[in-house]
Amino acid sequence: MSGETTAKEPLIVIASNRGPYAFKLNEETKELVATRGAGGLVTALSAIGGEYDVLWVAAALGKGDVEWVRRHKGQPQIVDNMRISMIIPDRRRYGLYYNTISNPLLWFIQHELWDTPRQPSITASTWDAWREGYVAINQQFAEAIVSAIGDTDRPVLVFPQDYHLYLVPHFVREKLAERVQIQPFLHIPWPGPDAWRILPEHMRTELLTSMLNSDRIGFQTKTDAFNFVQACRFYLPDAHSYGSRDTIEYKGRTVQAVAYPISIDVERVEELAAAPSTRLIREQLLSSIGDYRMVLRVDRIEPSKNIVRGLEAFRALLQAHPEHRGKVKMLALLVPSRMDVEEYRAYLGRIMTEAGRINAEFSDAFYEPVRIILGQNYERALAAMQFYDVLLVNPLTDGMNLVAKEGALVNQRDGVLVLSEFAGAIYELGDHVLKISPFDVYGTAEAIHQALTMPYEERTQRATALREIVQRAGVKEWFSRQVNDALVAIKKVRETKAAT
Ligand code: G6P
Repeated sequence: MSGETTAKEPLIVIASNRGPYAFKLNEETKELVATRGAGGLVTALSAIGGEYDVLWVAAALGKGDVEWVRRHKGQPQIVDNMRISMIIPDRRRYGLYYNTISNPLLWFIQHELWDTPRQPSITASTWDAWREGYVAINQQFAEAIVSAIGDTDRPVLVFPQDYHLYLVPHFVREKLAERVQIQPFLHIPWPGPDAWRILPEHMRTELLTSMLNSDRIGFQTKTDAFNFVQACRFYLPDAHSYGSRDTIEYKGRTVQAVAYPISIDVERVEELAAAPSTRLIREQLLSSIGDYRMVLRVDRIEPSKNIVRGLEAFRALLQAHPEHRGKVKMLALLVPSRMDVEEYRAYLGRIMTEAGRINAEFSDAFYEPVRIILGQNYERALAAMQFYDVLLVNPLTDGMNLVAKEGALVNQRDGVLVLSEFAGAIYELGDHVLKISPFDVYGTAEAIHQALTMPYEERTQRATALREIVQRAGVKEWFSRQVNDALVAIKKVRETKAAT
């Protein structure tokens, strides 16, 4: 679509820390090869390029990305069907922004992971990381967005994504005033006001007031939107909601908090799941799992994903229901993530210890109950999802959890989804899953047992219902709703202007 735009077609600017592609330099040919970035945000958003004129601003994360920017002299380039532009952040500042403030500080607040009697301590270096890292990188992003927009007279919609870019609305509004609609979307949960007490008042106020420079803020669920409104009311004396659950008035601006539950690119996932390369991986995996029934999990190595309790639940299952020993395996496909952050490294250690314990306790010459495969491989994940009997998705809390939706879509064994009551996906899928409390190891083990012993008709019914729900609302619809809401707002502003 890019390149054939009409004057009034909206320009969509997406900004996110991780871009849709990571570039790797082939040392021999010196060619740059594009691979898809990791994580839910990229998985979801990569689908929309064909639908709109999109310019995507992201950070150059690896050497290959930096080389890509250099080769193109910093100019945006079309990759597949959208224009990509990358900022090259100063390494030190980026480290402070990513490894100290975004992960863990903000991520841990929003997933309520801090063990507050012990952590975190906000020290002089945290303050330094805020100013030198988080504020500075947000400013750099905003400058790149402003310069990419230029002085076009087209409607411009700016969509900053996620917790890395909370200050972007402030910096963009400062430069472009009401010329643009600013509409952040948060992929992760927004907890109630209490969780935000960890952030010092100055940082909290800067963050919230920046977000209130937006026109509309998208959240995964109504609960997140409601919590945002409450947090603003609680911490900002001038913010009022006048009884509304989803609107905040702040210094003359009315900001809406709207739930746009994210989904997956249904066609692309189905296509990739059926691709010959995926089939090949599927055959290999199947032969290594053999005739065993399979409990699958697919996650980034991430404390909020609650992987250790998932393993504990599997051990509890084998203990309480010995009939599953030698018959059921757990396959965990785990993607290394944020390994420069101590909490993540430690978490990987705990996962491997727990898996080792289970294998030591229950394996025999033919049977190894837990298999962990580390590494990022989307095709392998889609291959494994096709033949699970049980998909375990037990996060402590999660914005949405796209694995739950991908699994429901591609599974071919009428597998059962065991889903945490605190994953955003529960709102849409809850009637057809076995719902668990992520803290309840016993309850999770019993749910897995129930799934493994469920009558065929019930399994089929549940699996069919889940698949239909996912097929009905894909990621394109998710994004179109946001664009349409922004365009309606622009139209209103123009009409009001014309009338006055
Ligand atoms: C989650 C976040 C994304 C993030 C992804 C991967 O899905 O919502 O914003 O990109 O995790 O994390 P990473 O730190 O590797 O970008």
